Amino acid sequence: MLWSAVLDLPAGRPDSHGLAEAARAAIRDGRLPAGSRVPSTRSLAQELGIARGTVTRAYNQLSTEGFLLARQGAPTVVAEQLTTAPTAAPTRTPAPPARWDFRPGRPNLSAFPRRDWLAASRRALRDLPDEDLDYGDPQGHPALRQALAEYLTRVRAVVASPEQVIVCNGYTQALSLLSKALSDEGISSVDFEDPSAPLLRDIPAGFGMRVRGAPVDAEGLDVSAVRGPAVVVTPAHQFPLGVAMSSARRTELVRRSKDEDLLIVEDDYDGEFRFDRAPVGSLQGMAPERVVYAGTASKTLAPALRLAWLVLPPRLVEPVRELKRHSGSHAPLFEQLAMAELVSAGAYDQHVRRSRATYRQRRERLLERVDHPPHPSGIAAGLHLALRLDGLTEVEVLARARAESVDLEVLGPHRVRPGGGPPGVIVGYAAPADDDFEPALRALAAVLRR
Ligand SMILES: Cc1ncc(COP(=O)(O)O)c(C=O)c1O
Repeated sequence: MLWSAVLDLPAGRPDSHGLAEAARAAIRDGRLPAGSRVPSTRSLAQELGIARGTVTRAYNQLSTEGFLLARQGAPTVVAEQLTTAPTAAPTRTPAPPARWDFRPGRPNLSAFPRRDWLAASRRALRDLPDEDLDYGDPQGHPALRQALAEYLTRVRAVVASPEQVIVCNGYTQALSLLSKALSDEGISSVDFEDPSAPLLRDIPAGFGMRVRGAPVDAEGLDVSAVRGPAVVVTPAHQFPLGVAMSSARRTELVRRSKDEDLLIVEDDYDGEFRFDRAPVGSLQGMAPERVVYAGTASKTLAPALRLAWLVLPPRLVEPVRELKRHSGSHAPLFEQLAMAELVSAGAYDQHVRRSRATYRQRRERLLERVDHPPHPSGIAAGLHLALRLDGLTEVEVLARARAESVDLEVLGPHRVRPGGGPPGVIVGYAAPADDDFEPALRALAAVLRR
């Protein structure tokens, strides 16, 4: 692997400080993944045209700080824990954002339904009783909870009453509140799918919970590997591999939840987007008393809204509401009311339908363009797919992506068990604006070409 392609080096010949800082930044953001081999001091010095002593000093500094792992008789590698550890304040301006955005989890922001949102906001504000401008219910405005309960029942086969719905500032806050409530109940460990989103796994870990991984295969989560007493799953479209959980696995998971008092957290982050047949209903609908359902507006509308919702089994409503009250973090009133209007008037359904058609077309174009489809997975649903890499490493792909000004993610940092599966990339195809999609695809194809 060529470090010169991966490192964002200062202009001119780097000194040991510049080299160490460029390596730290690349390790932090996953361009140099944990476990990857570090070039010898001689070859890196040659590659960069600098003195070997400069490289040695930089490596020593990085080893002392724990970024590199040097062991007697074994090659030096990038150390494990630091890829997602809290980092020191950056000392240089970050690299400019990439021109072509294929990061997973971003919807098409250029398609935000501005006119509908404006109309819904205007109606909501016009009809708002004065008393609703008071502190309000930490659980969320009743109008939105009512609208969501109806919508989720109709569209996602969730069993929901408005009393069970808690409106949150994104799923991130929802998972944080839930983790605290579960840890207060004495639940000290939780399983996540392996792979899954590392930032989400960090949330229960931050409350002192033990986070364990259970592998995912072509049928979704391997239920037999779940240890409990709680598990977070993405059954409609596994994040990041994209597989839908098979009906046998769904049944098995629900059976275990009932037999073993296992609590399931269903992260239905992009459940509305199924392309080739009707969406599969929620797991929650199969065992409402054992499953916490979570949905978000981040994929259907925009992440900036910070609007998400939990549908909780009755026993968890009170503790989560109280945690929300104490944190003082009500969801913003006007956004809640606009959302309620949008959902009740049917404009939300319309927008989702339109987006589904666009994303489906984009998926087709992407699959045509990535001509050697390197075993795509996750194409049936959602806003992203995963591609296995044949003959390319994740580090090489990231280096090429930088060169082409493409932003995408690789599977490595999502694995709970490092190296626990083949290398791959995750391509989110919803984010580029409509006019940008064709040039963005060309840049992506150049990154993935063998
Ligand atoms: C797996 C997964 N779940 C949920 C979310 C939604 O998070 P939020 O509602 O905080 O934007 C995301 C966002 O990227 C995600 O990747």
